[in-house]
Amino acid sequence: MQYCKFDVLPEKTGRAEKNLYGGFVEHLGRNVYGGVFDPADPCADENGFRKDTLALIRELDTPITRYPGGNFAHSWKWEDSIGPKEKRPVRLDDSWKQKETYQFGLDEFIKWCRLAGTEPMLTINLCTRGILEARELWEYCNFPSGTFLSDLRIANGHKEPYNIKYFCLGNEMNGSCEVGQRDAKAYAWIARETAKTLKRFDPEMKLIFCGADPEWNRIVVDECFEFMDYLSLHEVFNWKDGRKEYLSSMDVFGRKIDEAYAICEEIRLKHGSEKKIRISVDEWIVWDFDQRGKKEEEWTCGRHLLEQDYNMIDAVMQGALFSMFQNRCDKIALGCVAQSINVIAPIRTEKNSVIWKQSTFDPFKYNSLYGRGDVWKYEMQCDAKEEDLPPAVSIVSNEAKRSLTVFVSVRSNKKLDLSCVFHSFPGAEFIEALTENNEDLTLVNTPGNEILQAKVFNGIEPTENGFHGVFPPYSWNMIRFSY
Ligand code: AHR
Repeated sequence: MQYCKFDVLPEKTGRAEKNLYGGFVEHLGRNVYGGVFDPADPCADENGFRKDTLALIRELDTPITRYPGGNFAHSWKWEDSIGPKEKRPVRLDDSWKQKETYQFGLDEFIKWCRLAGTEPMLTINLCTRGILEARELWEYCNFPSGTFLSDLRIANGHKEPYNIKYFCLGNEMNGSCEVGQRDAKAYAWIARETAKTLKRFDPEMKLIFCGADPEWNRIVVDECFEFMDYLSLHEVFNWKDGRKEYLSSMDVFGRKIDEAYAICEEIRLKHGSEKKIRISVDEWIVWDFDQRGKKEEEWTCGRHLLEQDYNMIDAVMQGALFSMFQNRCDKIALGCVAQSINVIAPIRTEKNSVIWKQSTFDPFKYNSLYGRGDVWKYEMQCDAKEEDLPPAVSIVSNEAKRSLTVFVSVRSNKKLDLSCVFHSFPGAEFIEALTENNEDLTLVNTPGNEILQAKVFNGIEPTENGFHGVFPPYSWNMIRFSY
């Protein structure tokens, strides 16, 4: 048994915003083709969108969705993806060795977003294209009418401007995977000049610049400060390093976030500005590089790529990651799981309306539902031994819902005896507790057998101003109160 006691202090870290729970639809494998879009599937709607995946995306309540990449962004020529479908060219995407048919394109994505209740966030191709194409993309999407491109949007059947507010200026442009890779100075130049012109069109838009290591970040933030809203950091968590290392890797990533944010703050002071630049973790994922999906022919459209099965440890990992995000909500403004459907994702599908939720689905869903609002500081005493990790914990209250939620991810093979005291919620009343756990750590969900899911937890004893509970090893848990 591991024993922990924590005191929820009457002091807030900040506000966990809804955009911490974003999604990501890349033209990669079967995220779009076979996931979002499959006109041949029995559950397709009149747009060819799969109604079953739409329903699960709504259940996750991802308020923002990044599109169309990822690495795919360097192959993206957005003009190919609009207009009559029979006239759209088929192209090659070298990042994932795919054929891109563009039967699902920009306009379809916006329509899907509206149905899914999510806000679009577009990645501009600054790798193989440039400033002009970025301006034109904005004009097509956002200008009301009376210009060549806004009228083209209208002619394509979309009278109202899309009013897209979030744009990423390139994807991982420091990385060797990217065609058009830049050093920090070269990236800062093209990103700043693109931002300059875009912000003349709409000063309120939110621009996300590629981040990387501290040296890169210092140059990019300094040179682009005037136009920057968020600095992007991406992270892949890989369990291969061993279970303890895996389950503590979000703490390591948390320190990277602290470091990047500290650079943003240092440069803010240098510029004598009030504007705070925060971090956008617009790709985070558990990705086991050995699980690559079925071997299928390259240079085709919609093959099984990066389709990974998630187990209980992955669910704990994801719960702990959300707690880390919430506890750093003063620094992190936005987060996107990479990715939403099939590709290293919480939702999986096969043909003929086969769909299932992975072990990571419920921790995502309940964090998204109850992890928005004020995040409270706490002090924790824990007898975690050398070989153990302490639980990952976060406490979020939502004034509109009058709800107080405690998230607990047990990162150890021992049971957790936990006592919690609230110091600023007198009379908080216990509503419910959920847990996801399983003794078999190798188990994964399969179609029709979603064994790894959140279930009612009866082990909570409410106390005068808190609670006590004994939680299962390697479990994800949520305890809710009203106040
Ligand atoms: O999510 C898969 C890939 O991982 C994305 O395309 C890329 O941006 C990242 O490196």
